[in-house]
Amino acid sequence: MVTGAARGIGAAISAVLAREGATVLGVDLPADEATLGATMSDLGGLVLPLNMCDTDAGQRLAAFAHGQGKSIDILVHNAGITRDKMLRNMKPEWWDSVLEINLNAMVRCNQQLLEDGLAANARLVCISSVGGIAGNAGQTNYAATKSGVIGYVDALSKQLAGTGRVANAVAPGFIETQMTHAMPFVTREVARRLNAFSQGGLPVDVAEAVNFMAGPLALGLGGITLRVCGQSVVGQ
Ligand SMILES: NC(=O)c1ccc[n+]([C@@H]2O[C@H](COP(=O)([O-])OP(=O)(O)OC[C@H]3O[C@@H](n4cnc5c(N)ncnc54)[C@H](O)[C@@H]3O)[C@@H](O)[C@H]2O)c1
Repeated sequence: MVTGAARGIGAAISAVLAREGATVLGVDLPADEATLGATMSDLGGLVLPLNMCDTDAGQRLAAFAHGQGKSIDILVHNAGITRDKMLRNMKPEWWDSVLEINLNAMVRCNQQLLEDGLAANARLVCISSVGGIAGNAGQTNYAATKSGVIGYVDALSKQLAGTGRVANAVAPGFIETQMTHAMPFVTREVARRLNAFSQGGLPVDVAEAVNFMAGPLALGLGGITLRVCGQSVVGQ
Protein backbone atom coordinates (compact mmCIF):
# COMPACT_ATOMS: atom_id res chain seq x y z
CA MET A 1 0.00 0.00 0.00
CA VAL A 2 1.47 3.32 -1.09
CA THR A 3 0.01 6.72 -0.18
CA GLY A 4 0.42 9.66 -2.56
CA ALA A 5 0.83 7.11 -5.35
CA ALA A 6 -0.60 9.09 -8.26
CA ARG A 7 2.62 10.83 -9.24
CA GLY A 8 6.19 11.67 -8.32
CA ILE A 9 7.99 9.57 -5.74
CA GLY A 10 4.84 7.61 -4.83
CA ALA A 11 4.29 6.55 -8.44
CA ALA A 12 7.94 5.44 -8.70
CA ILE A 13 7.70 3.47 -5.44
CA SER A 14 4.55 1.79 -6.76
CA ALA A 15 6.29 0.87 -10.03
CA VAL A 16 9.33 -0.63 -8.30
CA LEU A 17 7.22 -2.62 -5.81
CA ALA A 18 5.07 -3.90 -8.70
CA ARG A 19 8.23 -4.89 -10.58
CA GLU A 20 9.19 -6.98 -7.52
CA GLY A 21 5.85 -8.78 -7.64
CA ALA A 22 3.71 -6.82 -5.18
CA THR A 23 0.08 -6.04 -5.89
CA VAL A 24 0.16 -2.32 -5.25
CA LEU A 25 -2.79 -0.60 -3.65
CA GLY A 26 -2.35 3.06 -4.58
CA VAL A 27 -3.95 5.77 -2.46
CA ASP A 28 -4.28 9.43 -3.39
CA LEU A 29 -6.67 12.35 -3.03
CA PRO A 30 -10.10 11.88 -4.63
CA ALA A 31 -9.36 14.96 -6.80
CA ASP A 32 -6.41 13.03 -8.30
CA GLU A 33 -8.37 9.83 -8.97
CA ALA A 34 -7.88 9.97 -12.76
CA THR A 35 -4.09 10.33 -12.46
CA LEU A 36 -3.99 7.63 -9.80
CA GLY A 37 -6.07 5.33 -12.01
CA ALA A 38 -3.71 5.82 -14.94
CA THR A 39 -0.63 5.16 -12.77
CA MET A 40 -2.12 2.02 -11.23
CA SER A 41 -3.51 0.68 -14.49
CA ASP A 42 0.01 0.58 -15.95
CA LEU A 43 1.09 -1.55 -12.95
CA GLY A 44 -1.96 -3.78 -12.56
CA GLY A 45 -2.51 -2.06 -9.21
CA LEU A 46 -5.64 -1.26 -7.20
CA VAL A 47 -6.99 2.26 -6.78
CA LEU A 48 -8.26 3.83 -3.57
CA PRO A 49 -9.13 7.53 -3.75
CA LEU A 50 -8.82 8.69 -0.15
CA ASN A 51 -7.71 11.76 1.74
CA MET A 52 -5.22 10.41 4.26
CA CYS A 53 -6.23 13.23 6.62
CA ASP A 54 -9.66 11.65 7.07
CA THR A 55 -9.75 10.50 10.67
CA ASP A 56 -10.82 6.97 9.70
CA ALA A 57 -8.29 6.61 6.84
CA GLY A 58 -6.53 3.63 8.44
CA GLN A 59 -9.79 1.76 8.97
CA ARG A 60 -10.81 2.44 5.36
CA LEU A 61 -7.46 1.17 4.06
CA ALA A 62 -7.89 -2.01 6.07
CA ALA A 63 -11.48 -2.47 4.90
CA PHE A 64 -10.50 -1.92 1.26
CA ALA A 65 -7.62 -4.40 1.39
CA HIS A 66 -9.81 -6.94 3.18
CA GLY A 67 -12.53 -6.48 0.55
CA GLN A 68 -9.96 -7.23 -2.16
CA GLY A 69 -8.86 -10.38 -0.33
CA LYS A 70 -5.42 -8.84 0.31
CA SER A 71 -3.28 -8.35 3.39
CA ILE A 72 -1.21 -5.22 3.88
CA ASP A 73 2.36 -6.54 3.90
CA ILE A 74 4.09 -3.27 3.00
CA LEU A 75 2.81 0.16 3.97
CA VAL A 76 4.59 3.18 2.49
CA HIS A 77 3.60 6.56 3.94
CA ASN A 78 4.64 8.83 1.10
CA ALA A 79 1.81 11.39 0.80
CA GLY A 80 3.06 14.84 1.75
CA ILE A 81 2.86 18.52 0.98
CA THR A 82 4.83 21.75 1.38
CA ARG A 83 3.38 25.15 2.33
CA ASP A 84 6.55 27.26 2.52
CA LYS A 85 6.71 30.64 4.27
CA MET A 86 9.08 32.27 6.73
CA LEU A 87 7.72 31.60 10.21
CA ARG A 88 6.71 35.25 10.77
CA ASN A 89 4.48 35.09 7.67
CA MET A 90 3.18 31.55 8.22
CA LYS A 91 -0.60 31.33 8.19
CA PRO A 92 -1.87 29.02 10.97
CA GLU A 93 -3.75 26.94 8.42
CA TRP A 94 -0.54 26.36 6.43
CA TRP A 95 1.23 25.20 9.55
CA ASP A 96 -1.68 22.94 10.48
CA SER A 97 -2.21 21.41 7.03
CA VAL A 98 1.45 20.38 6.70
CA LEU A 99 1.51 18.93 10.23
CA GLU A 100 -1.73 17.12 9.52
CA ILE A 101 -0.84 15.26 6.34
CA ASN A 102 2.93 14.84 6.77
CA LEU A 103 2.85 13.56 10.34
CA ASN A 104 -0.50 13.35 12.17
CA ALA A 105 -2.25 11.37 9.42
CA MET A 106 0.60 8.84 9.34
CA VAL A 107 0.59 8.31 13.10
CA ARG A 108 -3.22 8.04 13.27
CA CYS A 109 -3.38 5.64 10.32
CA ASN A 110 -0.73 3.39 11.85
CA GLN A 111 -2.51 3.35 15.22
CA GLN A 112 -5.63 2.10 13.47
CA LEU A 113 -3.83 -0.44 11.27
CA LEU A 114 -1.69 -1.79 14.10
CA GLU A 115 -4.89 -2.62 15.95
CA ASP A 116 -6.31 -4.44 12.96
CA GLY A 117 -5.33 -4.57 9.31
CA LEU A 118 -1.59 -5.15 8.97
CA ALA A 119 0.04 -8.46 8.13
CA ALA A 120 1.94 -10.12 10.98
CA ASN A 121 5.34 -9.33 9.45
CA ALA A 122 4.40 -6.01 7.83
CA ARG A 123 7.05 -3.48 6.78
CA LEU A 124 6.32 0.18 7.35
CA VAL A 125 8.37 2.70 5.40
CA CYS A 126 7.80 6.39 6.10
CA ILE A 127 9.10 9.16 3.85
CA SER A 128 11.05 11.82 5.72
CA SER A 129 13.36 14.39 4.10
CA VAL A 130 16.87 15.77 4.40
CA GLY A 131 14.95 18.92 5.34
CA GLY A 132 13.94 17.09 8.51
CA ILE A 133 17.61 16.54 9.34
CA ALA A 134 18.98 19.97 8.42
CA GLY A 135 15.97 22.29 8.68
CA ASN A 136 15.49 24.95 6.02
CA ALA A 137 14.61 28.64 6.09
CA GLY A 138 10.99 29.04 5.02
CA GLN A 139 10.18 25.38 5.72
CA THR A 140 9.80 25.29 9.51
CA ASN A 141 6.47 23.50 9.25
CA TYR A 142 7.76 20.97 6.71
CA ALA A 143 11.06 20.38 8.56
CA ALA A 144 9.19 19.87 11.84
CA THR A 145 7.09 17.12 10.28
CA LYS A 146 9.97 15.40 8.51
CA SER A 147 12.10 15.51 11.65
CA GLY A 148 9.06 14.15 13.46
CA VAL A 149 8.96 11.20 11.05
CA ILE A 150 12.55 10.30 12.00
CA GLY A 151 11.72 10.35 15.71
CA TYR A 152 8.47 8.54 15.09
CA VAL A 153 9.99 5.54 13.30
CA ASP A 154 12.63 5.31 16.01
CA ALA A 155 9.94 5.22 18.72
CA LEU A 156 7.60 2.98 16.72
CA SER A 157 10.31 0.44 15.96
CA LYS A 158 10.94 0.03 19.71
CA GLN A 159 7.22 -0.51 20.24
CA LEU A 160 7.22 -3.10 17.42
CA ALA A 161 10.40 -4.89 18.53
CA GLY A 162 9.93 -8.64 18.54
CA THR A 163 6.51 -8.51 16.90
CA GLY A 164 7.75 -9.32 13.39
CA ARG A 165 6.75 -5.89 12.12
CA VAL A 166 9.34 -3.19 11.46
CA ALA A 167 9.30 0.53 10.71
CA ASN A 168 12.01 2.54 8.96
CA ALA A 169 12.27 5.83 7.11
CA VAL A 170 13.84 7.13 3.92
CA ALA A 171 15.01 10.76 3.79
CA PRO A 172 15.29 12.01 0.20
CA GLY A 173 17.34 15.03 -0.77
CA PHE A 174 16.24 17.17 -3.72
CA ILE A 175 14.24 14.94 -6.11
CA GLU A 176 12.79 16.09 -9.46
CA THR A 177 9.01 16.01 -8.99
CA GLN A 178 6.01 18.35 -9.21
CA MET A 179 6.70 19.31 -5.58
CA THR A 180 10.19 20.64 -6.31
CA HIS A 181 9.22 22.06 -9.72
CA ALA A 182 7.00 24.48 -7.77
CA MET A 183 10.08 25.94 -6.02
CA PRO A 184 11.47 29.32 -7.15
CA PHE A 185 13.98 28.87 -10.01
CA VAL A 186 17.10 30.01 -8.13
CA THR A 187 16.29 27.95 -5.02
CA ARG A 188 15.72 24.92 -7.23
CA GLU A 189 19.01 25.37 -9.09
CA VAL A 190 20.96 25.76 -5.85
CA ALA A 191 19.25 22.67 -4.39
CA ARG A 192 20.24 20.66 -7.48
CA ARG A 193 23.89 21.61 -7.14
CA LEU A 194 24.32 20.75 -3.46
CA ASN A 195 24.96 17.05 -4.05
CA ALA A 196 27.93 15.15 -5.37
CA PHE A 197 26.39 14.86 -8.86
CA SER A 198 25.36 18.53 -9.13
CA GLN A 199 21.91 17.48 -10.26
CA GLY A 200 18.54 16.60 -8.80
CA GLY A 201 17.79 13.01 -7.86
CA LEU A 202 15.07 10.97 -9.56
CA PRO A 203 11.97 9.45 -7.93
CA VAL A 204 13.28 5.98 -8.78
CA ASP A 205 16.34 6.59 -6.56
CA VAL A 206 14.01 6.89 -3.56
CA ALA A 207 11.84 4.03 -4.79
CA GLU A 208 14.75 1.57 -4.88
CA ALA A 209 15.66 2.46 -1.28
CA VAL A 210 12.05 1.96 -0.18
CA ASN A 211 12.00 -1.38 -1.97
CA PHE A 212 15.11 -2.41 -0.04
CA MET A 213 13.50 -1.36 3.26
CA ALA A 214 10.36 -3.32 2.35
CA GLY A 215 12.14 -6.51 1.34
CA PRO A 216 13.91 -9.47 2.96
CA LEU A 217 17.39 -7.96 2.56
CA ALA A 218 16.52 -5.37 5.23
CA LEU A 219 15.44 -7.95 7.83
CA GLY A 220 17.96 -6.65 10.36
CA LEU A 221 16.97 -2.98 10.13
CA GLY A 222 14.49 -1.21 12.37
CA GLY A 223 14.00 2.42 13.34
CA ILE A 224 16.62 3.78 10.98
CA THR A 225 16.44 6.65 8.51
CA LEU A 226 18.28 6.15 5.24
CA ARG A 227 19.35 9.29 3.38
CA VAL A 228 18.92 9.16 -0.41
CA CYS A 229 20.43 12.47 -1.39
CA GLY A 230 23.41 11.93 -3.72
CA GLN A 231 25.71 12.82 -0.82
CA SER A 232 24.12 16.26 -0.47
CA VAL A 233 26.09 18.47 1.88
CA VAL A 234 22.79 19.59 3.45
CA GLY A 235 22.55 18.32 7.01
CA GLN A 236 25.89 16.45 6.91
N1 LIG B 1 10.63 15.89 -4.15
C1 LIG B 1 11.56 16.04 -3.20
O1 LIG B 1 12.62 16.64 -3.42
C2 LIG B 1 11.34 15.43 -1.83
C3 LIG B 1 12.41 15.49 -0.93
C4 LIG B 1 12.26 14.95 0.33
C5 LIG B 1 11.05 14.35 0.69
N2 LIG B 1 10.03 14.33 -0.19
C6 LIG B 1 8.79 13.71 0.25
O2 LIG B 1 8.43 12.66 -0.63
C7 LIG B 1 7.01 12.53 -0.66
C8 LIG B 1 6.51 12.59 -2.10
O3 LIG B 1 6.91 13.84 -2.63
P1 LIG B 1 6.80 14.20 -4.20
O4 LIG B 1 7.95 15.07 -4.49
O5 LIG B 1 6.56 12.98 -5.01
O6 LIG B 1 5.50 15.14 -4.14
P2 LIG B 1 4.30 15.32 -5.18
O7 LIG B 1 3.62 16.59 -4.78
O8 LIG B 1 4.77 15.17 -6.58
O9 LIG B 1 3.37 14.06 -4.83
C9 LIG B 1 2.74 13.95 -3.57
C10 LIG B 1 1.50 13.10 -3.71
O10 LIG B 1 0.86 13.03 -2.42
C11 LIG B 1 -0.53 13.20 -2.63
N3 LIG B 1 -1.18 13.71 -1.42
C12 LIG B 1 -1.03 14.93 -0.84
N4 LIG B 1 -1.85 15.05 0.21
C13 LIG B 1 -2.56 13.90 0.30
C14 LIG B 1 -3.56 13.44 1.18
N5 LIG B 1 -4.04 14.21 2.17
N6 LIG B 1 -4.06 12.18 0.99
C15 LIG B 1 -3.61 11.40 -0.01
N7 LIG B 1 -2.65 11.78 -0.90
C16 LIG B 1 -2.13 13.03 -0.73
C17 LIG B 1 -0.61 14.22 -3.77
O11 LIG B 1 -1.90 14.25 -4.39
C18 LIG B 1 0.49 13.71 -4.69
O12 LIG B 1 0.04 12.73 -5.61
C19 LIG B 1 6.46 13.64 0.24
O13 LIG B 1 6.22 13.13 1.54
C20 LIG B 1 7.59 14.63 0.27
O14 LIG B 1 7.56 15.45 1.42
C21 LIG B 1 10.14 14.86 -1.45
